[in-house]
Amino acid sequence: MDYHKILAEINEEVSHLIGKGKVADYIPELAKVKKDKFAIYLLTLDGKSYETGNSQELFSIQSISKVFMLALMISKIGKRVYKRVDVEPSGDPFNSLVQLEHENGIPRNPFINSGALVITDMMLSHFENPKEEMLRFVRSLAGDDKIFYNEAVAQSELRTGFKNAAMVNLMKSFGNIKNEIEDVLELYCYCCSIEMSCCQLAKAFRVFANHGKGVVDTRQYISKSQFKRITAIMLTCGFYDEAGEFAFQVGLPGKSGVGGGIAAIMPGDYSIVVWSPGLNENGNSLVGMKALELFTTKTGSSIF
Ligand code: DON
Repeated sequence: MDYHKILAEINEEVSHLIGKGKVADYIPELAKVKKDKFAIYLLTLDGKSYETGNSQELFSIQSISKVFMLALMISKIGKRVYKRVDVEPSGDPFNSLVQLEHENGIPRNPFINSGALVITDMMLSHFENPKEEMLRFVRSLAGDDKIFYNEAVAQSELRTGFKNAAMVNLMKSFGNIKNEIEDVLELYCYCCSIEMSCCQLAKAFRVFANHGKGVVDTRQYISKSQFKRITAIMLTCGFYDEAGEFAFQVGLPGKSGVGGGIAAIMPGDYSIVVWSPGLNENGNSLVGMKALELFTTKTGSSIF
């Protein structure tokens, strides 16, 4: 497969779309990001890499962190995680509150905000210093110590994250949040504020493509079966009310973030990360979706 040529073709074919869409200005610090960025980083399991565009530039991973948060807690408490958060697609926007009341404060899945907030609460209960632990875990998956929180982005979201605050309050009223509301919101915003490049993210997602093989840090144990489950949730819940569309158009498990990144995997074959900050109406990268659709079409690779 001539991946160099395919990435160059995709670059060309999406060029008219770059700059379209809307950046996530509900987090004021993210509104400053230029929309004309575009990058792809492809990492195959035989160790080869292919890139185009600003693939070494750092961006806010936002909800992509929800995959790492879930994996971290699975590595610590295993399937008990799923007692407080379900694994069903929500079909609703990432920050929706509507199902939470009907479903007694149990979020539909760990990849919507409410679900990740419950996972955050578990992190607070489990670790002495969850902020450090999260960074250590992500660094170990990526094999790279130069991964950090962005203080300005975290503080910016903390000041404006009114819906997240509403969710934590509602879930606390149902007994599904054990820690202080302020602490949950703060840790959650820090996890979202992690900055990584397409290259670093592709390295961190490699282990998901490789059925869990290659976790460098032996303190972390996640079974092959648990990796399968995390990947299944990526497929069914990774794109909120656009999960069906992503499966239909792209056909890979993945996870998006409002920073404009999308990380996806072809199990047994590769991890791929695209970044372009302009979002479509569902909060997913407009160019990123198109680029991945072109990639799986041109390469004929999809889990289906
Ligand atoms: O909680 C929020 O709204 C953001 N920190 C994360 C949302 C997000 O990335 C949704 N993904 N597409």
